[in-house]
Order: sequence, then C-alpha cells, then structure tokens
Amino acid sequence: MAFKIGLLGLGTVGAGTAQILLDRASRHPLLQEIEIHSIGVRSLSKSRPVQLADELLTTDLEAIVNDPAVDIVVEVLGGLEPARSLILKAIANGKHVVTANKAVIARYGDEIYTAANSAGVYVMLEAAVGGGIPIIQPLKQYLGVNRIHAVTGIVNGTTNYILTRMQTEKGEFGDILADAQKLGYAEADPTADVDGLDAGDKIAILASLAFGGRIKLQEVYCEGIRKVSAADIAYADKLGFVIKLLAIAKLQQPATDNSPEALEVRVNPTFVPKTHPLASINGVYNAILVEGEPLGQVMFFGPGAGAGATASAVVADIMNIAAVLKSNNNATTLHPLLSCSHQHYCAI
Ligand code: HSE
Repeated sequence: MAFKIGLLGLGTVGAGTAQILLDRASRHPLLQEIEIHSIGVRSLSKSRPVQLADELLTTDLEAIVNDPAVDIVVEVLGGLEPARSLILKAIANGKHVVTANKAVIARYGDEIYTAANSAGVYVMLEAAVGGGIPIIQPLKQYLGVNRIHAVTGIVNGTTNYILTRMQTEKGEFGDILADAQKLGYAEADPTADVDGLDAGDKIAILASLAFGGRIKLQEVYCEGIRKVSAADIAYADKLGFVIKLLAIAKLQQPATDNSPEALEVRVNPTFVPKTHPLASINGVYNAILVEGEPLGQVMFFGPGAGAGATASAVVADIMNIAAVLKSNNNATTLHPLLSCSHQHYCAI
C-alpha cells in the first residue's frame, strides 16, 4: 500500500520535506511506502533547491485537496489564507492533514479539529512548535499521564538570536535586528517574531495540549523584545540573570481551597537566573521545559526552525499517520494517540 502525499508549498519547509521524501531509500522502511503525488506552488518558473519532476508541480492548489488519489495533504504554505481554507477542504474530502502552520492552528484549531473529528481524519502539527524538536507528540503521549504544572519555552529562534547577540556584543536591539535581517536570521517584516506573536501562537498550542481545553491566542499576554535595551541586559548580567523571551503556561495556586485553579499563559522578556536550564539556550535554538507530577522536569532542546529540522517533524507526522493507517487498515475509529477532540484540544 502506497500513501500519496499532496504537498502544499515548496518554500523552505516544503523543499526540506520533498528532499527527505526523495532521499527515502536510506531512511525508515515505512518511508518507502510514502510518495509525493503532487506539489502546489505559487509559480512554476521559480528555481528550486530540490530536483523535482515537472509533472509533480501545479499552481492549482485546490486541485490537490480535491484529488481523490491524495491520501495525506501536507500544508507548509504558512500564513492564514489560503492555508486555512485548503486544510478545511482537504478534511472535508476525507484527507488526513499534516501542517506546520502554528498561526492557523492557534486561531482556527477549534474549527479544524471539529471538522477533522466529524470527517474521521487526522490533523498533525509536530512542526508547528519547536521546528525539529519533538514536543507535540511527547506532550500528547508520554507526558500525558502527568499532571503538568508548567510549560516554559524559548520557542522563537529569531528573538533568541537577537537577545543572545545583544548579550555577547552589548549591542542595542535596533542595530542587532538590522544586522540579523541582513544576514537572513530575521525576516524583512520582523513583527510576528519580535513582538512575541509567533511565540504566542506556539504557547497557545502547547498550553492547550498540556492543560486540555482550548487556549485562545487572544487570551495570551504577548510582549516582545523591542523595548529590551543593552542597559537592561547589562543590569540583568550584574545581578546574575540573562534576559530571555519566555513563553509560559503555568497553573496558579488557587487563592483559597474553594477557588478554581487558574492558568496563566504569557509571552514576555524575562529575567532568567544564569543557573536555570533555559539560561544557556543561545542563538536560534529553541528549548521547552515541561514540569509535572510525578515526572519532575524534562527539557526538550534543538533547532526550532530551518528546512531540514522542520521537515524532519513534518515527515515524522506523515509516517505516524501512515503507520496507524497501515496497522489499522479496516478500523473505523481514529487512533486515540493521534486524534484530537475539539473539547479536549489535541490531548489524549
Ligand atoms: N520565525 C520563527 C522563529 C520560525 O524565529 O522561531 C519558526 O517558527
């Protein structure tokens, strides 16, 4: 049985995904059963970092999500539209979906998971948070038996790169940002990164997974790093701290025995003691510290962006779906570890 992939997007992550699927011979045996059926691109004439047969490419993205031959739609377009509409159409057509799109999931997760549950298909999003770091499935599976107290992460590589350089070079935010843009570490429009919105999307997803329910992006306090100065970093250093943009979701102690537990979810520059495990995460790297009971602390660390790293997570999701479909060929219900209910968003 071969699983046919319809890939939407051939930018950095799409090209990385195609590369792994083309180089599949030396990888996991299940990859031999996964093939690219079609790839949706904005322009056919653009040069590509990966060699692909011309007949795989089309500018008709709708045709891919409507194609009965496609089993799994992989959305790596980024942005809200047409990504959201294409995901919903794919689901309505009974296709499983893999997406790296944190913005769509953080804003339209309810709509997407409600549609996926009624269509009986999987929606997987390992690449949406932490790039290549496995964090979504571990939270859903291996950490799911714990009572999670807090999830604290450096989940935006661009701002961590800028803050790291401000620390080591004693530079000001504007100068380091301009240089980071020149070097390709920051986007021409850096708003989503430096104002904490990208990290806000990611912590909304992680908080929903770790604590159940549905954390809406609008409920997340987001403050970026524009106001952090070289002087702030120097004072922090003197006092034994580094400044990191942390994305935090943690349970608050109830005020009285009868008051409900509250969940605090926020993104803001934070004084982190130099001895804290997140203090030494520098450059474009991401790290996510999960604290729970009875587990204690566990930290996930790795490349939070980039073609190969993010594609590794995308292809892992494709393989997970293929593995379950293969072992469950005639099953009529979704595997609980991969499926997500909209009431208990993405948690088992
Ligand atoms: N802009 C993101 C970052 C890319 O800087 O971490 C990965 O989501």
